[in-house]
Amino acid sequence: MDIETTRRNLLKGILAIPVLGALAAAVSPLMRFLKPTIKPLNYLQGGDLPRSAVPVEIDLSLMPKAFDAQAFTFTQINKEYTAIGTQTKDIPGYAVRLPTGEFAVYSRICPHLGCVFNYVPAPDDVAKGYNYRPDGPVFACPCHLSVFDIQQEGKVVSGPAPRPPRKFVYTVENNKLRITDLESGGVA
Ligand code: FES
Repeated sequence: MDIETTRRNLLKGILAIPVLGALAAAVSPLMRFLKPTIKPLNYLQGGDLPRSAVPVEIDLSLMPKAFDAQAFTFTQINKEYTAIGTQTKDIPGYAVRLPTGEFAVYSRICPHLGCVFNYVPAPDDVAKGYNYRPDGPVFACPCHLSVFDIQQEGKVVSGPAPRPPRKFVYTVENNKLRITDLESGGVA
């Protein structure tokens, strides 16, 4: 091989480098798309669900009769992808003993626009203040007068709220109501 041929081959090789690079740059995203190395984002699973910092415990001797209630504050831990990272939020709640022996345990944050609602045991008081006469005790929001029936899973029976308030997860152990978690989603 003479010197001229060798130089031509060398130049051809050098010129091929950017062409091969451009080809690789074009093919790489296509390969990534066809065979991704990560699973689809599943950002509301496992560790991303809100948790309680410390479970709330309520002594059941404080609410011995049907419709006795206790207010409490639940500290929720949220994992948030911000510079601050994990954040906590205090959520007010009510636990009410139902005639069935079960408990209605709900966040007091109204699912309409986020006001803190009240527990109103007397139907007459509801009729006077909230434009609606229920059959029994209810949760009632002073902001736009939404009323929630605690004996029907927090069903909205009056007013603009789009859905029942969020429920807490609880267990009953050693005559104590132990509140450990909050249903995710909704306002606050
Ligand atoms: S915020 Fe409760 S009814 Fe509007």
